Amino acid sequence: MAGPPSARRGKKQSSGLGLIRDGAFAAKEGRIVWTGPTDRAGKEVSLASGAVELDAESRVVTPGFVDSHTHPVFFGTRQIEFAMRAEGADYEEIARAGGGILNSVARTREASPDELESNLLRHLWTMLRYGTTTLEAKSGYGLDADTEIRSLEVLSRVASTSAMTIVPTFMGAHEVPEEYRHEGGSDAYLGFLLSDVLPVIAERNLARFVDIFCEEGVFTVEESRRYLNAAMEAGFGVRLHADEFHDTGGALLAAELGAASADHLLSISEEGIRALAGSVTVATLLPGTAFFLAKPWPPARRLIDAGAAVALATDFNPGSCFCESMPFMVNLAVCQLGMTVEEALVSATANGAAALEMGDSKGSLQEGRDADFIIWNLDDYRSIAYHLAVPDIEAVYTSALLAVSGQCRR
Ligand code: NIG
Ligand code: FE
Repeated sequence: MAGPPSARRGKKQSSGLGLIRDGAFAAKEGRIVWTGPTDRAGKEVSLASGAVELDAESRVVTPGFVDSHTHPVFFGTRQIEFAMRAEGADYEEIARAGGGILNSVARTREASPDELESNLLRHLWTMLRYGTTTLEAKSGYGLDADTEIRSLEVLSRVASTSAMTIVPTFMGAHEVPEEYRHEGGSDAYLGFLLSDVLPVIAERNLARFVDIFCEEGVFTVEESRRYLNAAMEAGFGVRLHADEFHDTGGALLAAELGAASADHLLSISEEGIRALAGSVTVATLLPGTAFFLAKPWPPARRLIDAGAAVALATDFNPGSCFCESMPFMVNLAVCQLGMTVEEALVSATANGAAALEMGDSKGSLQEGRDADFIIWNLDDYRSIAYHLAVPDIEAVYTSALLAVSGQCRR
């Protein structure tokens, strides 16, 4: 996956694997210092005393997955709404009736930091077993100052000791809370976030990005523009939930702002596709959400063919995609989104890293990048996409710990 730190787009997304046959790499203190064919390693690399040599035999080794869109800080699950949907209820209808995100908000507000942390750790562990070594993690189930800050504090505490790299995003603008459900309430709520919450987060360095749910019935494009501009002025990178259920022009706004990513895009217009193709913004597709909600697939093929850079992520959350598995997103991308195996793998690694503005350290195995990698129990990388829902992972290593998690073998 060697290449520049920027996102791969168009044809480069398919040709970007940089496969090294019978390859090897060397790392020092978690950072890759050499890659090449194994028969040259003996001549060009000398092992420091105490160094560990791993023999992957004839297995495929890839960078760890970069899951650039998750909502893992919440309490309580939503299997009741899930069952209601199975009986015919609609996701947006449930949300309008006070369920959905607000349901999780009520439970999350009551949860202690320890409860939030143990729930988070459980899901992070599953992500790691399924090969995710870097993830973006959003707050957004608090929707008040205390719970939003508590959520980010929990993330920060976990991140400081985790084997995984965790990139925190403030998503107080995930939904309009009950207290602001009145005429002009959404605007007033965003004003409150800007005046009372964002400054604390900036001061305490609790988030790197700010995200907003730009959607019919949630926040308008105009509100999103003002909010994200203020967030950029406060020093944050920005990303958007855009054109998920309705085309509101969210992707156009993302391109206009030069956002790090525009995510979901199930309902993106042709104009939106062209705008993303001509921008620095990564189009982050979340096929698990379309699958979970039985919505139309995001237009991956049209985006890539137009020249946009596509990333894949899970959107892991309790309501619209209760799934931690990046390998499953790769399956869906290839089986249903019309992406090639190579495009899907680049989208789930290098382009995910670029969507987090971390292309210079994550998402590829090359000199200078972090040694986050997966050893697959496979001898052909195409089998990663081919084996549906069952990832053949032998072990996952991360630069932070270079820790073994061989449990997936069982
Ligand atoms: O990305 N679209 C908005 N937010 C989440 C859903 C969260 C929920 O239902 O709890 C998403 O799909
Ligand atoms: Fe999301």
